[in-house]
Amino acid sequence: MARAVLAVVVAVAAVLELGLVGANFQDQCDITWEPKNAKMTEGGNHLTLSLVSNSSGCMLRTKKQFIYGSVSTRIQLVKGNSAGTVTTYYTSSIGEKHDEIDFEFLGNETGKPYTFHTNVFADGVGNREMQFRPWFDPTDGYHNYTIFWNPCMIVWFVDSIPIRVFRNHGEKGVPFPTKRPMYAFSSIWAAEDWATQGGRVKTDWTKAPFVAEYRDIGLNVCECSGSGSDADADAASCAKGCATADHWYAAKDLCQLSDKQRRQMEAVQLGYTIYDYCADAKAKGRAVPPECAMQQC
Ligand SMILES: *[C@@H]1O[C@H](CO)[C@@H](O)[C@H](O)[C@H]1NC(C)=O
Ligand SMILES: *[C@@H]1O[C@H](CO)[C@@H](O)[C@H](O)[C@H]1NC(C)=O
Ligand SMILES: *[C@@H]1O[C@H](CO)[C@@H](O)[C@H](O)[C@H]1NC(C)=O
Repeated sequence: MARAVLAVVVAVAAVLELGLVGANFQDQCDITWEPKNAKMTEGGNHLTLSLVSNSSGCMLRTKKQFIYGSVSTRIQLVKGNSAGTVTTYYTSSIGEKHDEIDFEFLGNETGKPYTFHTNVFADGVGNREMQFRPWFDPTDGYHNYTIFWNPCMIVWFVDSIPIRVFRNHGEKGVPFPTKRPMYAFSSIWAAEDWATQGGRVKTDWTKAPFVAEYRDIGLNVCECSGSGSDADADAASCAKGCATADHWYAAKDLCQLSDKQRRQMEAVQLGYTIYDYCADAKAKGRAVPPECAMQQC
């Protein structure tokens, strides 16, 4: 009962915060690269991004900048031979020392598995890659990809299953994004030099265009509208306002995964991890980043 009430309260808070019932790509996003390769239908609720040639893909960016919240969309990745193509879905700040939270979907030959690549940058520091095999065919139907970000942690969700957590260990010197407003982006581009099987498999351009399809953008975020002359001051004041306890994503139970979510994530990580920067550093005798020894979820 208390649970149900809480769920309703959270849902109402979320809606108030967004004011975004019926959000769609048309209202929420701009096409920032090759608008001719983006098509919106169904009143902006369905979107396709096409990769047409090795120099002509497409990129979408939210109109809003934000610090913290949840960004989700449903994607059906490129069908058939998608070797050499990369579809991305990420949040990023603009400018030099940047913050970024990534999903990248690396295509493959027909019948061979996609690679789901995740990474996080804070204060310009990245190199925190983890890669997974999908446990389903991501080209057969739409699947929900969500980036959840609050002052405690970042969670990457696939169909509401957490696949990775990156916890804020800022007080122990681990960079975590807390300072810069981000936009959410999605794009498709050509990367045949490295994307598929290390670049050995090139794109079959006779199969172009390569099309990723999208539905249902959900942007439950703390907006940073400031675009005044002092961008740094605007960012700092937005970061402060978005870090207060009254936001839906600051609820206590969103500061860590539930037991059920932890079990789900463990199952995914045991069964489907194909690269982990922590394990890689250990295996190669390189300096292991400090957060690798810290609790993540
Ligand atoms: C892209 O394709 C064009 C036309 O096929 C080709 O001439 C060019 O070398 C390619 N560029 C790269 C970077 O692969
Ligand atoms: C996608 O997943 C997120 C996180 O679980 C959820 O909040 C959201 O409602 C889902 N969106 C859709 C369209 O199913
Ligand atoms: C493509 O398939 C091969 C063979 O199964 C696999 O090794 C590789 O990781 C897959 N993904 C990519 C992006 O190359």
